[in-house]
Amino acid sequence: MEKRQEIYRGKAKTVYATDDPDLLWLTFRNDATAFDGEKKAQLDRKGEVNNKINAFIMGKLEAAGIRTHLVRRLSDTESLVRKLTMIPVECVVRNVVAGSMSKRLGIPEGKALPTPVFEFFYKSDALHDPMINDAHIEVLGWATKDEIAEMKALTFRVNDVLTPLFADAGITLVDYKLEFGKYRGEMLLGDEFTPDGCRLWDSKTQEKMDKDRFRRDLGNVIEMYMEVARRIGVVL
Ligand code: ADP
Ligand code: TMP
Ligand code: ASP
Repeated sequence: MEKRQEIYRGKAKTVYATDDPDLLWLTFRNDATAFDGEKKAQLDRKGEVNNKINAFIMGKLEAAGIRTHLVRRLSDTESLVRKLTMIPVECVVRNVVAGSMSKRLGIPEGKALPTPVFEFFYKSDALHDPMINDAHIEVLGWATKDEIAEMKALTFRVNDVLTPLFADAGITLVDYKLEFGKYRGEMLLGDEFTPDGCRLWDSKTQEKMDKDRFRRDLGNVIEMYMEVARRIGVVL
């Protein structure tokens, strides 16, 4: 597999073409950003830790029958993925109130929800990822009714796989964001599942083990990502 020209440089990953038009080469960089790119830093080993956590989690999801874009991890910081036509929405599931739901509805962080809550956001840094609903997605032509239903069902299935996986490691999966895309007519999970795009709290102490450490200047960001990796069994 050959790496070809750079196609897109995102906030945390760079996407390259390959000699196979169906495949992309993803590089996980050490860049950390928050608040839609307003806050930036370089964190040593972040690319490696996230690439390895992502490959591990995507492997677990595949094993549970959830199709993902991952073909294989190529190196410490690089992975080979199927090239998707991305749907420009972020699918969020919350098990516990935190972040924007806490702010929006005035509910304290930490309240466990009796059943998981699903939310859609429009992926747009310029607009700060506004919350949207099914009707917006359908009327704007980003996805069909069936595709919307499929994204929701898959996002909930991910919860059924990952909530116990993290619980067994003494970690509460508070919430997470997924991105999907189409590949030869099929809906696949794309992008990444890493501590950058979810909230993970130590089940006993409630200590934050995710990107909120960076957003809220709590320190030891990568140390905590590495602790997540260690507990779920990712070899770094
Ligand atoms: P952002 O665009 O939010 O700054 P990243 O730095 O993670 O994010 O960049 C990766 C980009 O690649 C994202 O825009 C994401 O939607 C896109 N992407 C992820 N997986 C795939 C894929 N399999 N095919 C095409 N695009 C993808
Ligand atoms: P929120 O509380 O800011 O709405 O985020 C909910 C979860 O989804 C949290 O784990 C962070 C993740 N997320 C992203 O990673 N990127 C995004 O653009 C959004 C909207 C959420
Ligand atoms: N969309 C936001 C960003 O990537 C999410 C966050 O604050 O992490 O900057």
